[in-house]
Amino acid sequence: MSRKSRWIVAAPLCALAVVAAVACNPGNGGPAATTTTAANSSAPPDEEYGEFYAEPAELAAVPVNDIAKSMRMNVTAMTVGKAVYLKNCASCHGDDLKGVAGAHVPDLTDAFWRFSGDDIETAGVKIYPSDVEWTVRYGIRSGHKRARGLEADMVAFDPQFRNAEDRAEFGDRRFLTDDEISDVAEYVLKLSGQEADAAKAARGDVLFHEGTKGNCYDCHEEDGTGDLPLGSTNLTRKDLFIYGSDRASILESINKGRHGVMPAFDGKLKPEEIKAVSVYVFARAEHER
Ligand code: HEC
Ligand code: HEC
Repeated sequence: MSRKSRWIVAAPLCALAVVAAVACNPGNGGPAATTTTAANSSAPPDEEYGEFYAEPAELAAVPVNDIAKSMRMNVTAMTVGKAVYLKNCASCHGDDLKGVAGAHVPDLTDAFWRFSGDDIETAGVKIYPSDVEWTVRYGIRSGHKRARGLEADMVAFDPQFRNAEDRAEFGDRRFLTDDEISDVAEYVLKLSGQEADAAKAARGDVLFHEGTKGNCYDCHEEDGTGDLPLGSTNLTRKDLFIYGSDRASILESINKGRHGVMPAFDGKLKPEEIKAVSVYVFARAEHER
């Protein structure tokens, strides 16, 4: 079996069958779902839900992690969630959840999340549907006070590109010269397993870990794997870069800074729609690294 959604076997197979317009029997003598087309509306006709499946509005009052565990609610969430996704998320994240070129979004189907969850045992490494729900509800640097990404920004190391917020904090201070930025970019290339000039990368390594210079480790960690609460990129895997992992893109990230924004959906989607799309996106991701 693939690494994908092992825990969710019974329900999503059904859910996917519903979405794919295949009849599906949820088992235990429950009624077979009538065949249905992939819903484009978030309020599919009542008869699709019968006595077994939850009505969409029912999801509003239930914690999202419980929805994902319930066969009757999960089927509804997957159907409604897919429709909500295609209408509200696919323009940036793509129909396949892997991202639209130029939208600077992470692949939502892998097991590598940029932002941490709320799991105490793994210090947020393990992600639950409720963690996706937080991102959807409040967004990322969206202006909402509960948005993700507020703790730290990828500051522009070339002061002329600083935004108002970074200017207020760092003024016009130059932490790295142009040559030093070029060295540290070479080190990022090396970190991500790409060809790099060895002498420059060695100097960049020192700058990366030097508190008064690059100070990169402060937000990207000693080993460059990124800091989940901050949403800073894991620089050791080039497939996880959202702004490009080639030399020119890395230089641009360091010189100009980055401030990725995802809108908040609180108040724009119905409560049950936010929950449904969170269940759907979570279920589409791999859950083990
Ligand atoms: C104050 C925290 C902070 C510091 C200091 C910092 N970064 Fe970042 N960095 C971030 C965050 C947060 C992101 C993700 C930005 C986003 O998603 O828009 C990021 C993104 C990046 C990216 C873009 C990766 C991608 O996804 O394409 C590169 C490259 C990068 N940082 C390199 C560096 C280097 C090199 C340094 C030191 C010279 C550094 N960063 C210092 C927080 C920081
Ligand atoms: C306008 C473009 C846009 C739209 C629309 C959008 N997103 Fe995003 N989303 C982003 C960007 C950009 C990021 C990454 C921000 C960053 O880290 O710099 C992101 C990140 C995420 C993440 C975080 C992934 C991680 O690795 O932690 C999730 C989950 C997510 N989006 C889900 C959704 C869902 C679900 C919807 C629809 C309800 C949606 N997004 C709509 C732009 C968008």
